[in-house]
Amino acid sequence: MSLYNIDPSLTSSWRALESHAAEMSSFDLKSDFIQNPSRAKAFSLEWDGMFLDYSKNLINEKTKSLLLGLLDEVKLKEAIEAQFSGEIINRTEGRAVLHTALRTDSKDEILVDGQNILPEIEGVKAKIKSFTDGVISGQTAGFTGKAFTDVVNIGIGGSDLGPSMVVDALGFYRNHLRVHFISNVDGDHVFQTLKDLNPETTLFVVVSKTFTTQETLTNATTSRQWFLKSAPKEAVSKHFVAVSTNIEKVTSFGIEENNIFPMNDWVGGRFSLWSAVGLSIALAVGYDHFQSLLEGAGAMDKHFRTTPFDSNMPAILACLSTWYINFHDVQTEGVIPYSQYLNQFATYLQQAVMESNGKYIDRNGKEVTYRTSSVVWGEPGTNAQHAFFQLLHQGTTLIPCDFIGFKESLYQNQEHQDKLIANFFAQTEALMVGKTKEQVLGHKAGIADAQDSTVPFKVFQGNRPTNTLLIDRLSPRSLGQLIALYEHKIFVQGVIWNIYSYDQFGVELGKQLATSILSDFENPESSVHDASTLQLMKFYKD
Ligand code: F6P
Repeated sequence: MSLYNIDPSLTSSWRALESHAAEMSSFDLKSDFIQNPSRAKAFSLEWDGMFLDYSKNLINEKTKSLLLGLLDEVKLKEAIEAQFSGEIINRTEGRAVLHTALRTDSKDEILVDGQNILPEIEGVKAKIKSFTDGVISGQTAGFTGKAFTDVVNIGIGGSDLGPSMVVDALGFYRNHLRVHFISNVDGDHVFQTLKDLNPETTLFVVVSKTFTTQETLTNATTSRQWFLKSAPKEAVSKHFVAVSTNIEKVTSFGIEENNIFPMNDWVGGRFSLWSAVGLSIALAVGYDHFQSLLEGAGAMDKHFRTTPFDSNMPAILACLSTWYINFHDVQTEGVIPYSQYLNQFATYLQQAVMESNGKYIDRNGKEVTYRTSSVVWGEPGTNAQHAFFQLLHQGTTLIPCDFIGFKESLYQNQEHQDKLIANFFAQTEALMVGKTKEQVLGHKAGIADAQDSTVPFKVFQGNRPTNTLLIDRLSPRSLGQLIALYEHKIFVQGVIWNIYSYDQFGVELGKQLATSILSDFENPESSVHDASTLQLMKFYKD
């Protein structure tokens, strides 16, 4: 069990996939569905309330078997075990990667530095439960004895995107607490949010794994100043709590040790919503729903760890995405949820995917010779249909998309639901079948119509691939499954590409330069920057 260091492009599966991609260049999905009546079934998977139809992809049985062969050659099975058992697979940061430990129901020990981490996880969960129960019931109140009405999560990146996406996605399950998210160092973000809040009834949750992040510390300081305009200093302890690994920095910021919800360095920021970083989620929906979210993710973890790859959802999704990125030169992939609740899902995935796998150096420290992460983007359907779908249907770029929907609507309005799902299915069908010149002309007769100059504009090439993920119902549990599905897909692709998915050195340079520019604003001429940046600094300050 280990994370191996295997250049995928040197494997026999990779070479076979290259020649297979050439063979498949004239593959026509529509015809294959006609020739192969079992195609839809053969390329579908059902597991625990989730149905994945991946038959509308540019693949055949040979593609699948070559991709599965690649997973074996890069030793995915061993990599999964290395991750779940707490090996230091984040080698560039010298850390284990154990967000899965936060949602396990197994009592088997998971050791980090020789210590079983499960008791500590249970301890933090108990603290989250008692705190959230108190705030929701009103027993834990503000400095004037009034119950809290508003919660402000201050964090950025993984300390914001995960909780914010989940709180939004679980809107149906929310209680009376209004939860706000402040992330951007743009002062307008914090002041716009604080404008309508009452300090007596507002709870601040400052979330920062490192507690060194400029944006978060600035927003937390500004929020505390705002609070202290109407409250005595002693009241801070009732209104400010923190989530962090850095106890020292939090206490020197002025938050009491008792008000700290600890997290550990074996949880990566973008995988941390399952830890105390999820405090705002537990406040918004109550602890039991937070626990269900963890259970859903835990169920997906088991599926991923124990299911053979030919019917393993994260492995299959990772294979398909790799097929397009590495063998069809695809650069971007869409994620289109047919649920307004998943409005922030693509934004959340952007950090999870691109901060993890947007790397050009492999585990040998050498430049990769193949493409790694795609650009991920998306918006909920049906809105997206009226925005960028034109390009999906008739653009010049191949953009594989994941379509995600729920069989049941939460408010049970069947008319809306049928229309929503009809649109969902129609889009994947249209992308696949397209519309030929003959079909465009179909309803017309005569030579004059055949010469209609608008015909080419109305032809759809089709053959554009999609995955369809149909889930029974949006619940905390199924959302947990869905998020974990994508987390594992990211991991599998990192293993295939032989990169370190759990570091993020690429965000550091910009942070350093921002610090230097900030201190150089006063004396741009004596500072060392390129001519364009100097000109901008001068223009800004003049
Ligand atoms: O800038 C990137 C990053 O380090 C992310 O990986 C992380 O989620 C975010 O900043 C916030 O970091 P922290 O939780 O330490 O404030």
